Amino acid sequence: MNKDRKLIIAGNWKMNKTVAEAIDLVNGLKRELATVKEVDLVVAPPFTALSEVTRAILDSNIRLGAQNMSEHNFGAYTGEICAAMLKEFSVRYVILGHSERRQYQKESNETIARKALAAHAASLKPIVCIGESLDERKGGQMEQVLETQLRGSLAGFSNDQLEETIIAYEPVWAIGTGVTATTEQAQSAHAFIRRVLASIADEATARRVRIQYGGSVKPSNARELMSQPDVDGALVGGASLEIRSFTEIVKNSI
Ligand code: PGA
Repeated sequence: MNKDRKLIIAGNWKMNKTVAEAIDLVNGLKRELATVKEVDLVVAPPFTALSEVTRAILDSNIRLGAQNMSEHNFGAYTGEICAAMLKEFSVRYVILGHSERRQYQKESNETIARKALAAHAASLKPIVCIGESLDERKGGQMEQVLETQLRGSLAGFSNDQLEETIIAYEPVWAIGTGVTATTEQAQSAHAFIRRVLASIADEATARRVRIQYGGSVKPSNARELMSQPDVDGALVGGASLEIRSFTEIVKNSI
């Protein structure tokens, strides 16, 4: 594939996999994907598996992600995990503002921006998730929703920080539903996102930001989605939990 931006495919394991299961999965991925150089590969296990998974992927082409982190650096925040704790396990990426956290933990764009700035300060690359609900799409508000989420969640970023950020466009109606956005829907949303990024920063910066698509990505739709000019990778939930399906998504994307 001939794109300036390197594809990045990440598995968001969500609240799945015990340590033993995580090791099995990551060992399988390591074996099946050992020769892949064309794509940045990331797995985001639950916090409890980070220490073992990081050991398993040492000397491999798979990088480690986390699914969330605190905006604070230390202190009295019961149940939270900070950037320095993730760095101990060689975490490189952190998923922020996933729609499930926006919904269940009521995370706001402002909180997400603060977390993302804390991630940048620790040299972790944030994967900032945005996406509209079905009602918002049906009501013709998709662009407005995406723009508000982008401007809010990226507030205070320098252009360099923006360049080191990955945006995940995940239409809420496509997550875990089996309904994937059509390639045209994905491409037009991604192109819109890039236009907003250009207005936040500048054209050159916007051209360098990688925008992942997420929402029911599977082996059968990965190739077409990844071939769209503004789709630079995938954030995969359900299909990242099996060696075979994640491997096929990656191989079909190359
Ligand atoms: P899904 O989840 O692939 O199961 O739709 C994607 C995500 O929530 O990141």
